[in-house]
Amino acid sequence: KLRKAVIAGNWKMNKTPAEATELIEAIKPLVKDADCDVVACVPYIDLAAALEAAKGSNIGIGAQNCHWEKSGAFTGEISADMLTSTGVQYVIIGHSERRTYFGETDVTVNKRIRAALDNGLSVILCVGEFLEQREQGITDELVAMQTKIALGGVSKDELKKIIIAYEPIWAIGTGKTATAQQANEVCAVIRATVAKLYDTASADAITIQYGGSMNAKNAAELLDQPDVDGGLIGGASLKPADFAEIVKAAS
Ligand code: G3H
Repeated sequence: KLRKAVIAGNWKMNKTPAEATELIEAIKPLVKDADCDVVACVPYIDLAAALEAAKGSNIGIGAQNCHWEKSGAFTGEISADMLTSTGVQYVIIGHSERRTYFGETDVTVNKRIRAALDNGLSVILCVGEFLEQREQGITDELVAMQTKIALGGVSKDELKKIIIAYEPIWAIGTGKTATAQQANEVCAVIRATVAKLYDTASADAITIQYGGSMNAKNAAELLDQPDVDGGLIGGASLKPADFAEIVKAAS
């Protein structure tokens, strides 16, 4: 494989700080020999506990969103500056749950990415289609557009801090995984989009994950695909043994 895999857990709205400590402690010994990058993206309230528990380990810690302004009257939001101050390294931007339930658009996704990069964070940018869009045959155009708008104003050098996660919305939390071939096809479309926007070397270097009901059983086949460089794991990231199995499959 050309690229080192990145396996990132997205805990979504799960775990108290005490539980976060417990979960990181449980995962730590199981992934210590991983030959891929391992990340846990936790709720804001868990960041301090997770960072403390992960200290000295090979687990990177991330948040699940950030606002584009530095500070101000944005009740309930957290800025990229604030995230950086905690020592967090990663942030997920544009998850379909943010886009669907909280009204985020390609334009706000782009602004959030800008702020994250300006604060030295690595970004996990999520793109993906609804089932209806797949059935209409517009998946490729849609993910290409999402990718293009999200990366607007991002330089070739800054692109090195970006991971793209292809998450078909119909596969998230449904137990319905994309086939390995479907996952690979769309990851390849995203890579081709990056090649068009930047160049082949950038496209060859960028990490593109698959996300959507990836688990201990199906991870190996998905991760075996040439254009799938890792996974963004929801449900299975809350189960240490399953998450470790996925990490193993990527190593
Ligand atoms: O960010 C993670 C994805 O939404 C996948 O979630 O593994 O529970 O389907 P899932």
